[in-house]
Amino acid sequence: MNILFMGPPGAGKGTQAERIVENFGIPHISTGDAFRLAMKQGTPVGLKAKEYIDQGLLVPDEITNGIVKERLAQDDCKKGFLLDGFPRTLQQAEALDAMLSELGRSIDHVVNLKVDRGLLLARLTGRRICKSCGTTYHVLFNPPKVEGICDKDGGELYQRSDDTEEKVGTRLDEYTSKTEPLLNYYNGKGLLREVDGEKDINIVTADIVSCLKGTL
Ligand code: AP5
Ligand code: MG
Repeated sequence: MNILFMGPPGAGKGTQAERIVENFGIPHISTGDAFRLAMKQGTPVGLKAKEYIDQGLLVPDEITNGIVKERLAQDDCKKGFLLDGFPRTLQQAEALDAMLSELGRSIDHVVNLKVDRGLLLARLTGRRICKSCGTTYHVLFNPPKVEGICDKDGGELYQRSDDTEEKVGTRLDEYTSKTEPLLNYYNGKGLLREVDGEKDINIVTADIVSCLKGTL
């Protein structure tokens, strides 16, 4: 199954993607995670991406498209994939269509996690992530058993540098002006599935699974 996850920053794309890929046995491709890894490694792509991510702005399309094209061509994507946070502009959506058509593939479902803007700031500023395995927590909504420590592997939890109040504002504005219009693009193709992302994390997962299996 070839799936796209859309929704504003903090909607729960990463949280739900971790669970859905386990359920469907497909790779999770997050452009945000790919950029953070490249930044950590100090690669040329990472250095370039940092200029934008540090300001809460989208990374230019040509850089982002290149990363996804390379990843989709890998063998493990043959059984399907879950793209989280890509595409985010009309140009990226068109580039993705071209990449998939070259590979003889197409998108099955575009899941949009709907969350009111008013809830997103609290979700993002309270988010914590495991340094070693990347599992996402929230200090109030999804806390680890021991503060600051990952339940899964005991790794240290950290806060993303773009999860400050000021940067979240810019990220949400980027989403509204550049990414939200894509919902119409996919609705027009009959691929859009809307899921209420404001419910409890476990309920959202169940709703996504039902929606992917065609019962919601
Ligand atoms: P990226 O890493 O993709 O960030 P984002 O889109 O801003 O989304 P987030 O990861 O912040 O939110 P999420 O929806 O994954 O929420 P999560 O599950 O963590 O991108 C970062 C940057 O990279 C971008 O700003 C841009 O610069 C660049 N970039 C990436 N892709 C790009 C592209 N295609 N083009 C150009 N630039 C690109 O949940 C958030 C918090 O809420 C967590 O603490 C979680 O525990 C909690 N939570 C989740 N679900 C619930 C729930 N149901 N109830 C209560 N709490 C919940
Ligand atoms: Mg994410």
